[in-house]
Amino acid sequence: MKPQDFFFLIRFLLILLFRFVIQSAADPRATEVALICSNNTASPLERSTFVTNFLATMDAVTPLIASQRFANVVNGTGNTTVYAFGQCMNDLTQSDCDLCFAQMKTQILRCLPFQLATRGGRLFYDGCYVRYDYYNFFNESLSAVDRPVCGKVDYRGNRTIFSENAMKLARNLSVVAPKNDGFAVGLVDFRNVSVYGLAQCWKFVRGDSCSKCLADAAKEIATCPPKADGRVLNAGCFFRYSTERFYFNSTATATGGNGRSRLAIILASVSAAVAAALIFATAVFCARRKVVRKRREKKQLGPLVALVNKSKLNFSYETLERATNYFDQSNKLGQGGSGSVYKGTLSDGRVVAIKRLFFNTRQWVDHFFNEVNLISGIRHKNLVGLLGCSITGPESLLVYEYVPNQSLHDYLFGNKNVQPLSWASRFKIVLGTAEGLAYLHEESELKIIHRDIKLSNILLDNDFTPKIADFGLARMLPEDKTHISTAIAGTLGYMAPEYVVRGKLSEKADVYSFGVFAIEVITGRRNGHFYQDSTSILQRVWNFYGEGRLYAAVDPILGGDYPRDQASWLLQIGLVCVQAFADLRPSMSMVVKMLNGNYEIPQPKQPPYLHPSSGDIKKHNSSDSSNPNLYSNSKNSQTSMTQSIIDPR
Ligand SMILES: *[C@@H]1O[C@H](CO)[C@@H](O)[C@H](O)[C@H]1NC(C)=O
Ligand SMILES: *[C@@H]1O[C@H](CO)[C@@H](O)[C@H](O)[C@H]1NC(C)=O
Ligand SMILES: *[C@@H]1O[C@H](CO)[C@@H](O)[C@H](O)[C@H]1NC(C)=O
Ligand SMILES: *[C@@H]1O[C@H](CO)[C@@H](O)[C@H](O)[C@H]1NC(C)=O
Ligand SMILES: *[C@@H]1O[C@H](CO)[C@@H](O)[C@H](O)[C@H]1NC(C)=O
Ligand SMILES: *[C@@H]1O[C@H](CO)[C@@H](O)[C@H](O)[C@H]1NC(C)=O
Ligand SMILES: *[C@@H]1O[C@H](CO)[C@@H](O)[C@H](O)[C@H]1NC(C)=O
Ligand SMILES: *[C@@H]1O[C@H](CO)[C@@H](O)[C@H](O)[C@H]1NC(C)=O
Repeated sequence: MKPQDFFFLIRFLLILLFRFVIQSAADPRATEVALICSNNTASPLERSTFVTNFLATMDAVTPLIASQRFANVVNGTGNTTVYAFGQCMNDLTQSDCDLCFAQMKTQILRCLPFQLATRGGRLFYDGCYVRYDYYNFFNESLSAVDRPVCGKVDYRGNRTIFSENAMKLARNLSVVAPKNDGFAVGLVDFRNVSVYGLAQCWKFVRGDSCSKCLADAAKEIATCPPKADGRVLNAGCFFRYSTERFYFNSTATATGGNGRSRLAIILASVSAAVAAALIFATAVFCARRKVVRKRREKKQLGPLVALVNKSKLNFSYETLERATNYFDQSNKLGQGGSGSVYKGTLSDGRVVAIKRLFFNTRQWVDHFFNEVNLISGIRHKNLVGLLGCSITGPESLLVYEYVPNQSLHDYLFGNKNVQPLSWASRFKIVLGTAEGLAYLHEESELKIIHRDIKLSNILLDNDFTPKIADFGLARMLPEDKTHISTAIAGTLGYMAPEYVVRGKLSEKADVYSFGVFAIEVITGRRNGHFYQDSTSILQRVWNFYGEGRLYAAVDPILGGDYPRDQASWLLQIGLVCVQAFADLRPSMSMVVKMLNGNYEIPQPKQPPYLHPSSGDIKKHNSSDSSNPNLYSNSKNSQTSMTQSIIDPR
């Protein structure tokens, strides 16, 4: 081999590799075309189960996408069943497919905002597609929300020819694709006016259904020309045309294939050059991606970006990724209704808790950042401090002070190998929680209503100082955009009747939750778990109150080792807090005074309001909440409801 040949070959190799890397990995076409959320929302009782099942399906879809490029998965039963489907366009390489899907997975969550679980959503990207729904849509090719999405820019040139070419292309591809594994790309360049197109039927739509779906797309696309770009988003298929060649042309790779067989022979002798080329190409590729990402971030955040970057509340996504060892399962502390929590160690050695939010804050990022700013200013010994957030990465993260012991829920009901909480610890926990809430309601400038006080939101420090987690979370989210303005956020069983029934929210809703919480801590029983005679713990405590021996309800694990009168008035405070009529409940600062013995504890006037079954809600809706007598003795309806509640942290 002559030296010239050798250098020619190296150059050829470099070019080939370069092109291969750029073409195959640089364009996952992860650009969003449309997010379509359905109007159908899960009922408040089913919401958490639906979201849990949804997350399970997404977890199952990801590895399938990685191995076979599409996935259909079902999880759950009855009304909370989730059907999910995902697929990449056939022309994408596997690595592009993975990239596209990874991006998309974080965005479909926008259909499941904090207070509402929308029971259906579709997200169309140029390179991939995902859909979930509450019914089996795996044979659906057309639906009511199918639509064309046209570009903004008109074709510059002869529009008549352009339009004709686009339509011809659409008709042609709708015939070719069904015979070709549901996929086709092509171009029409009649009279030098080139139009490129791609047609893709989803994996579950085959043969006639595919033809029918694409024929519909060919009809619908007629509204788009002379726009330079157009797409049709159907339940069973996707069609796109453009003046640019946007797809990955496998014929071009076939040409490269010739080169590759030659390449194989040469490879041994020039492996060093290959390595060098690869490193070079990778470097270029990474740099390019970084630039693109930076540019994208800048566009999304606008003028805020400077402010965010300067703020010490801002953590970079990469920093937090590293702190949690790339969100390694072993660092996961728990999972809640709004996101999963990881333990992280920052480079300066600080240990923090990092919450990955299910919802994305992109659309209201300025509001979100502003709230984080305000809430991070709230400091109290019984509140978990918010240290900052990350909003420029692919998902939104909140950074909290780390509390070393577990949540009260885990402590009481999680593992069996811990010392039972002593009476003194229980008293300290109830009092500390009351002080934290009194601070939120009355002393902090923001006057925050927590909305979700429960065992799993009270974390324990090493010395059993309670710390309230997740306060202010509801504030960080925008006002509900849907017609349901009074969506219910809290966990059933802790929610005040007026909040469940009428969505009426005041500090007194937190007081109610606190009452349930205090009774649970003292009795060691969960509200919503029933005794053999199907009475709930609240009902039982009320009965003991009637008999004048409240202390008898105290957790038997203490073996009587507690002061009876203190136990009795603690439980009485609990009962005063869970009175159905909100005005009868004391404020949190009064509760603190009562706990400290500086205020006389009133007699509870009403029996506590118990879990509403759906029937009760309806009944109750039309009556006055000042006179509720809502003992529900139907064990079945109650337990089925409590089963639908996840009680995560
Ligand atoms: C949602 O409701 C609006 C009108 O209320 C309707 O136009 C739209 O098609 C519905 N969307 C879905 C996905 O059903
Ligand atoms: C649903 O997902 C959960 C969690 O991944 C899993 O344990 C369960 O087996 C799944 N159920 C079905 C029906 O696939
Ligand atoms: C499912 O929902 C419908 C209406 O939303 C309701 O009538 C039905 O009882 C529910 N089924 C179950 C098993 O909860
Ligand atoms: C899809 O399947 C369901 C049940 O399997 C059936 O009721 C429905 O008619 C089917 N739809 C189409 C379009 O085939
Ligand atoms: C576009 O092309 C058609 C067919 O060749 C011709 O009749 C028409 O005049 C052209 N229009 C323009 C604006 O050039
Ligand atoms: C579609 O276009 C290709 C290439 O231009 C052509 O060979 C084929 O006959 C066309 N098919 C139909 C059904 O129009
Ligand atoms: C693919 O590329 C080859 C060579 O670059 C070209 O001749 C062919 O028309 C392209 N095919 C499509 C469908 O764009
Ligand atoms: C198309 O372009 C080629 C060169 O790019 C030119 O020779 C030919 O005349 C053009 N044809 C038409 C119909 O404009």
